[in-house]
Amino acid sequence: MPTASAKRVRDSYILHSLNPERVLIAAEAIAIGQDALRRAAKYARERVVFDRPIGQNRGIQHPLAENWMYLESAWLMTTRAAQLYDAGQNCGAEANSAKFLGARAGHDACWQSIATHGGFGYAKEYHVERLFREVSVTRLAPITEQLILCFIAEKVLTCQGVIELAAMGNPALAAALRARLRIPVIGGPMLIASSAALVIAQCTNEMIGAIPALNARSAAALDELLCEIEAGLATHDQANPANRAAPYSVNLVAHHTNARLEADLAVVLAHQVPLAIVSLAAPRDIVGAVHEYGGLVFNDIISNRHARKCAEAGVDGLIAVCAGAGGHTGNMSPFALVQELRACWRGPLALSGCIATGQSILGARAMGADFAYIGSLFLANQEANTPDDFKQMVARCDSRDVVVTNCFTGVDAMFLRPSIEANGLDPRALIRAEGSSISIADGGANPKAWRDIWSAGQGIGAVRHVEPAAVTIGRLCEEYEFARGRIREWI
Ligand SMILES: Cc1cc2nc3c(=O)[nH]c(=O)nc-3n(C[C@H](O)[C@H](O)[C@H](O)COP(=O)(O)O)c2cc1C
Repeated sequence: MPTASAKRVRDSYILHSLNPERVLIAAEAIAIGQDALRRAAKYARERVVFDRPIGQNRGIQHPLAENWMYLESAWLMTTRAAQLYDAGQNCGAEANSAKFLGARAGHDACWQSIATHGGFGYAKEYHVERLFREVSVTRLAPITEQLILCFIAEKVLTCQGVIELAAMGNPALAAALRARLRIPVIGGPMLIASSAALVIAQCTNEMIGAIPALNARSAAALDELLCEIEAGLATHDQANPANRAAPYSVNLVAHHTNARLEADLAVVLAHQVPLAIVSLAAPRDIVGAVHEYGGLVFNDIISNRHARKCAEAGVDGLIAVCAGAGGHTGNMSPFALVQELRACWRGPLALSGCIATGQSILGARAMGADFAYIGSLFLANQEANTPDDFKQMVARCDSRDVVVTNCFTGVDAMFLRPSIEANGLDPRALIRAEGSSISIADGGANPKAWRDIWSAGQGIGAVRHVEPAAVTIGRLCEEYEFARGRIREWI
């Protein structure tokens, strides 16, 4: 058995030889192609049909001219790869490209040479059938064209950010989940504000309800909280077997400053929570553990790059948090982010940021999202764990009263200006100290944030009353149906 270090040396020795081998095969294929081209040109000069050499016909000249250009270009790539290799530099992309281009150009030139020779192309005496046979193997060995294309697509284009998400995600999942809902809405989990009562109200009104794990004081308290939610949903299901409650969700913050992550995850696994919403980047082990019991993992994201990382970790759904969203907010336009994500992500996609009416939910779906992801709209619900003053402030305020600052947690979050002022702070002075890093411990650098300084998104202009969640959700459903009807009329 070779030792690990001996294996490393052996592997690096083998890998080291692959690129020059590709360069060598490229040169071989190009040389064969050039030989075939020379023979084709000679034959075209000498072969006379209807009193003139066939080489005078454009139909003969042009394909050969094209072959010459392709062979020359492949040769340039080959010499480039060789130069890089000789200089001790990384030449994987160039060596692979040289092998691909050289073999293709050589093969095409040989075929064109046979075509130029006509029936004589098969005659041994003209040698071009031999060249064609010999060049064919260079398209297959030492590496196939398909593997080279995979290498360039994955290693070169991905690194340069050209391919963002390689058509990842399961498109059937969103439809299956939507079929269990009255309206395609996922409640945004809200620190402090989400309560068991709010989640139960959301789920029993057939949208997905969500709560942050950190809303429970400890992992043991989270266990009790989830028991309470499950009991509430089970009671509803018994009384309404035809209208069963929607699945519920728990939010986990996957950040190293979240000391509770491991313990909370254990509770989520024990309860087999149907949907885990992960903030920041979902680590693969969380995704794997939730998948093991058949649960789903959605990850909130604020950029295409962030989405890619999550998709690679195997999450089932993405939540695009766009400009104007409450809590930790995004800064991208939903039009830009959804269009970029939908170019390659086929799985469930939820959209958030100021969605607070049925019309906006339909708008989100028209843009390509499967679900609206709504937080701030529920802040003024009776079931929300928000002080009455907070509820009233949300009902009174609109987008002009919402400010964004990264000063409390290190990343941009939305807060209500009147609540900042009520705590003796100047909203204009809320700028994160340079070099300070993100922290979610104690709600961020300032423990007052979230508890005394209240967060809400720019969509709160739609909130005018403190009311039960059932009323809010009922209104969303009516508006959604109304908007659908209006669009049907337009069409
Ligand atoms: C008060 C408040 C607290 C929030 N806390 C969390 C949280 O703990 N975890 C999380 O993933 N998102 C949190 N969010 C963000 C929401 O889940 C959701 O992304 C956002 O509210 C959607 O935008 P909207 O407010 O415009 O509807 C919070 C939002 C608000 C308003």
